[in-house]
This record gives sequence, structure tokens and C-alpha cells, in this order.
Amino acid sequence: MEKTTDEKRQGESLIIEPNENNSKKLFIESYGCAMNFSDSEIVASILSKEGFNTTQHLEEADLVLVNTCSIRDKAEQTVRKRLEKYNAVKRINPKMKVGVLGCMAERLKSKFLEEEKIVDLVVGPDAYKDLPNLLSEVEAGRDAINVVLSKDETYGDISPVRLNTNGITALVSITRGCDNMCTFCVVPFTRGRERSRDPQSIIEEINDLATKGYKEITLLGQNVDSFLWYGGGLKKDFVNASDMQKATAVNFSKLLSLCAEAHPKMRIRFSTSNPQDMSLEVIKTMAKYDNICNHIHLPVQSGSNRILKAMNRLHTREEYFTLIDNIRSIIPDCVISQDMITGFPTETEEDHQDTLSLMEYVKYNFGYMFTYSERPGTLAERKLDDDVPESTKKRRLSEVIELQLKHSEFRTKQYLGKTVEVLVERQSKKSNLHWSGRTQQNIVAVFPKENHKIGDFVNVKVTDCTKATLIGNAIDIVQQK
Ligand code: SAH
Ligand code: F3S
Repeated sequence: MEKTTDEKRQGESLIIEPNENNSKKLFIESYGCAMNFSDSEIVASILSKEGFNTTQHLEEADLVLVNTCSIRDKAEQTVRKRLEKYNAVKRINPKMKVGVLGCMAERLKSKFLEEEKIVDLVVGPDAYKDLPNLLSEVEAGRDAINVVLSKDETYGDISPVRLNTNGITALVSITRGCDNMCTFCVVPFTRGRERSRDPQSIIEEINDLATKGYKEITLLGQNVDSFLWYGGGLKKDFVNASDMQKATAVNFSKLLSLCAEAHPKMRIRFSTSNPQDMSLEVIKTMAKYDNICNHIHLPVQSGSNRILKAMNRLHTREEYFTLIDNIRSIIPDCVISQDMITGFPTETEEDHQDTLSLMEYVKYNFGYMFTYSERPGTLAERKLDDDVPESTKKRRLSEVIELQLKHSEFRTKQYLGKTVEVLVERQSKKSNLHWSGRTQQNIVAVFPKENHKIGDFVNVKVTDCTKATLIGNAIDIVQQK
């Protein structure tokens, strides 16, 4: 259950529909959060115009790109190991070029070129449009780097090439960067200032997905609830925006309504919500539209007011409870999930007990739990001693995980005997006779395949469950692809 955003999806290589005119081969793999996977689709789209088709075979690649994560030290170590693997392949295929994209590229900049001789190209998350120029540099035998962060780049004008797709669920990025400055987090440094994407281009992307038969989209951002479009640029410029711009501004709640109304049959999800920015209006909008899924990922990180403050999370434990109460009263069947960090600097046993009691109050459906990992350059690293021993961090983590498992089981059991609507996404990992999909509330469900197929919405009667998965039988089909 210690799922982490970087462990959830590790190093998947991506493959897209080949363009017949393209002769060069790109191997691109992604680590980390959903945003990285979404970004790799943008990169593949840019490089498709430069003559690259994707391949799943590292050995035959002309260009290898790795989209990296810096969120915890472990995520960075995983990428370093991959570079060793590329090195081995390069000995056999010396013409192969290697590029590093994403958060590690932004964090380490030219140090990457010095530390890792294999790397020819370093590109930060806002510089992907410069890839064609950078590749020319590499072709000319020079190392190439662009890690300039932007105040307005949203890649809204690039239609991503869907990679490794099941043709059913897709990621749609709506904001980039983060202005929150949580003291433990490296993201504001690697992904820059927060900016929102033009709603028009978001709707167009969803229209395109609907035409292609997609059934579910996830609106993505580091902090989706702070989405604000009034013509582009940074949020602070909103203060100086014209009255007209302010009157026509679109906030996250409005964006959700726009998406829900444009495609009433499309399931709409979003991630991630920072509790301090989630408004009542958003919760009411979720309740108003059937197709906005009743799941909120609401990371809290700690249950102690003292630690929340030290983390620069701008809400108290009591305010968080009020938010939870509001969600539960407006959307009674809403699934709520968490991210939690154990062993943040100065965390005492009492703080840790506060985390456990907060969890007891909420009884989350599931969560992603981590020990604190000090990140260079963050405020916590500069101002606080990483003073909780590793063994204590780990022991607290196991206690948090154990409690979460208990709550997951409690929540999952509530579905026994009930009928849930499942969107079929793939074959079950454990049995080729079963489909796996998710309920509207984002709970995984498996059931015998019979004559159903990927993309069907199927009513499933729940007969059994594990801690995280519902098991049942299809009783009827709701809608066919
Ligand atoms: N807003 C983001 C959060 C990004 S980081 C999102 O969209 O998911 C994801 C999670 O990683 C955080 O919620 C936090 O629980 C964890 N995390 C971030 N920095 C960390 C650190 N230095 N050590 C341990 N966990 C961390
Ligand atoms: Fe990181 Fe906090 Fe933003 S966790 S991504 S700084 S909301």
C-alpha cells in the first residue's frame, strides 16, 4: 500500500502510431507523476514532426529520452540506474543519443552533462518546443541544454500524441507549475510558476478525445483548484487584468462545468487538490454533474498543526476537518484519498499521533505514503535539520500504512452486495479471464470477462473484495463503445 507517485508507474516506454514518412527511432520513457506521462505525449508529438517514430526497443533507438522525477531521492536514483543501462546499450549502438527531460533536468541543469557522460541533451519541462534546435546541436556533436522556465508556456497549442493508450482513458493537462511553496517540495523549483491553460484549448482536446472514443479524462495539475484563466500569464497579473477580463475569467469550478456540459457521457476526473485551495463551489459543481467523478485526492501530509505550519501548508487540521465534513454532506458517496509524509523535520511522537488521529477521523479510501526525503534547495533543506532518524521515519510510516490498510478494508467492504458501474479498462493483471476497470469513485473492480469489452460501462454486483479491489459479476451493460 505504500504506493508512491513515482512507483505507481515506473519507466513505461511509450509507443505511438507510426508516421510512414518518419525514419528515425525514438525510445521515450517516463518516471514520476501523471504530468510527466502527459508531457512525454507532447514531446512525442513535437518529435514526430522531426522525423521520429517511437519504438519499444531500446537497442534500435536513434534517440533515447528519459522524463525524470525529483520528488524524492529514490526517484532520482532510479533514473541514474536507467542511465547505466543506456550506457551499456550505447556501447553496442554508439550513434545513439541520450537526453534527459523533466524535473531532474531542471534541478541539475548542466551538472547532468558533467556527472553523466552518457547524456547529450538536457531539457527542462518548459523547453520542449526547443527540442528541434537542441537536436541539431547534438547532431553537430555539441552537448545541448535548455532549462529556461516560462511564465506562460502551457503547450495548449500542441495536440499530444496518445502513448501506450487503451483508447479509453486520457490525461489532459490544465495547469503547469506550482506557486504553493510547500517547504519540503522541489516542484516549484523544477516546474516553475503556476499558469493555467486556455479553457478553449482544453475543451478542444476533450472534443478530439470524445471523437476518438475516449470515455474518461483526468484534468491534471499540481494544484488544479487554483486554475484561473483570464487571458493567460501568472495569477498575480490577475489583479491588474481589465474588468472585462475579470468578468469573463474561468476558475476551476467553471472549467469543470464547461467540461461536464460539453460531454455529459465522458467521465471527468481531476488531480491534485491542495486543501487550502479547494472551494465549496467546486464540491457543489461535482455534486451537480453526474459525469464528474466522486473522488477527491486531497493530500494533507500531516495531521499536526505545528508540522502543517512548518510545511507551509496553509490550513489547519480543524479547517481540513471542515472541508471533509462539507464534502461528506454534499457528496455522501465521495471517495477521499491522501498523501502523507512521515518524519518531517522536528516531527515528534505527539505530531505523529495527530496524523494517526486525523486519519481515524477521515478514514480515507486509499493513500500514497512516504518517509520525508530532504530535497536540495527547498526551504526545509535550507532552514531545518533533517533530524528524525531514518528508523523512526520508517516505523511511523509502517504505522500510517497499517492504519490506512485498515481503513481501506473498512471502506471497500461497504460495497459488498452493492452494484457499481465499472468502465472496463484492461485485462486483470491476475487473470486473463477477468476484466479490470474502475468505478466512478476510482475504486478498482474486477469481474469475469464474458462478452464485455474494453470501453464498456458495465454494472457489476460486488460479491467479494480485497483491501483495495472489488470483485464481482457483471449484471448488465450500461453503454457500449
Ligand atoms: N501537487 C502535487 C504534489 C506533488 S508531490 C500533485 O499533483 O501530486 C506528490 C506527493 O509527494 C506529495 O503530496 C507529498 O506527499 C510527496 N512528497 C513531495 N515532496 C516530498 C519529499 N520531499 N519527501 C517525501 N515526500 C514528498
Ligand atoms: Fe509541491 Fe505543495 Fe505544489 S506539494 S507541487 S509545492 S502544492
